[in-house]
Amino acid sequence: MTYLVRGTLVHCPVPPGEAGAELESIDDGVLLVEKGRIARIGPASELLTGELSSLPLLDYRGRLIMPGMVDVHVHYPQTDIIASYGEQLLEWLNRYTFPAEAAFADTAVAAETAEFFLDELLRNGTTSALVLGTVHPGSVDAVFGAAERRGMRLAAGKVLMDRNAPGNLRDSAASAYRDSRELIERWHGRDRLLYAITPRFAPTSSEAQLVAVGRLAREYPDAYLHTHVAENRAEVEWVRELFPGSRSYLDVYDGHGLVRERSVFAHCIHLDDDDRRRMAGQGAVAAFCPTSNLFLGSGLFDYAQARAAGVRVGLATDVGAGTSFSMFRTAAEAYKVSALLGRPLSAATLLYLCTRAGAEALYLDDRIGWFGAGMEADFIVAHPGATAMSRRRDRRSGTIAERLFALFMLGDDRHVEAVFVNGSNRLSTDAGRQAGRSEQRPG
Ligand code: GUN
Ligand code: ZN
Repeated sequence: MTYLVRGTLVHCPVPPGEAGAELESIDDGVLLVEKGRIARIGPASELLTGELSSLPLLDYRGRLIMPGMVDVHVHYPQTDIIASYGEQLLEWLNRYTFPAEAAFADTAVAAETAEFFLDELLRNGTTSALVLGTVHPGSVDAVFGAAERRGMRLAAGKVLMDRNAPGNLRDSAASAYRDSRELIERWHGRDRLLYAITPRFAPTSSEAQLVAVGRLAREYPDAYLHTHVAENRAEVEWVRELFPGSRSYLDVYDGHGLVRERSVFAHCIHLDDDDRRRMAGQGAVAAFCPTSNLFLGSGLFDYAQARAAGVRVGLATDVGAGTSFSMFRTAAEAYKVSALLGRPLSAATLLYLCTRAGAEALYLDDRIGWFGAGMEADFIVAHPGATAMSRRRDRRSGTIAERLFALFMLGDDRHVEAVFVNGSNRLSTDAGRQAGRSEQRPG
């Protein structure tokens, strides 16, 4: 189906330069969508003429049309333990996380949770994510199947852990290798789905398992490698005891060939300059998880320092340690963490972090994360004045940067009016229906 979408278009069409991220906006703009792709982008005065003017038109004037958001680190099996009181990382894992993940031995639990989780991502305007399952291969089949039915571009993987975890959540080096291979063969590159080899973190993998993971990472260089690093001081100390021969926590992974392009490391709070140099030089990615880092009292990720070192950084909710599925709310916390470190983030950087940065982190910026001819049509319609408060605030905003900044500080799922995945509308609120005046709504 071919159609036009009209509204205020805002995105980050170029990677950030020395001066940081840049916004491009078209106040009265139009996207031409054709067969799930963006065919053209431009001002309404140019696109609503000639033969294009007879195409179905979704009129979202007064709304912001932006690329779908990309969450680069989130645990779908932890959906139900979001906002569980107290504790830092290691206690929190034992008390809440492992019992919750054990329930995913039951494929019915996995299937029901996967459906809810993906609907929740979409309601919040997140169209792509890098997702952890549990140790059970069936948990990954469930989330990939549900994503495929929604046409989403999603990466996911089975968690690998063969020690320092409850017996019913442990695999082995051999089964980790075999099960991951089977899942890669089944899912990687099918439709819009991509596989992530997912050792949980160094403390829960034996030396033999890390060797097996290194082998997978070599055999499947275009699959992701997804894990956690240097989140919490007690965790870092534990890794030092478990791997006395490694220079640093990151070095444990690097020693097994796991620091490479398409490797995504959640948290990266307690790294040193050498770690950052290696990540940058080897094309690895840091997932900035501000709500989680504040919630578990883990520490403050220094975005400016990571970028200055040349590290790719994506933004992530990290639910269930993270406290919201909303990338607006996550961006607001990223802003505050950076403000505490003396380097607040601009509106352009916040939009970049929610969209293009995630695409770059996943090496998908030739397909998603910004608007250009040939890009996949994942985009959202945001209403900056969806609540009484945000409406009052939006009235005072002059520039697009001001509107966006207030939207990032005040926004949440209520500010997401429509969500298009591969060109199909997957969410349409009542407000969205009123704004879209066309009779023929795709999807
Ligand atoms: N480190 C190892 N596993 C986890 C997890 O599930 N959540 C967080 N936040 N950190 C981890
Ligand atoms: Zn995590």
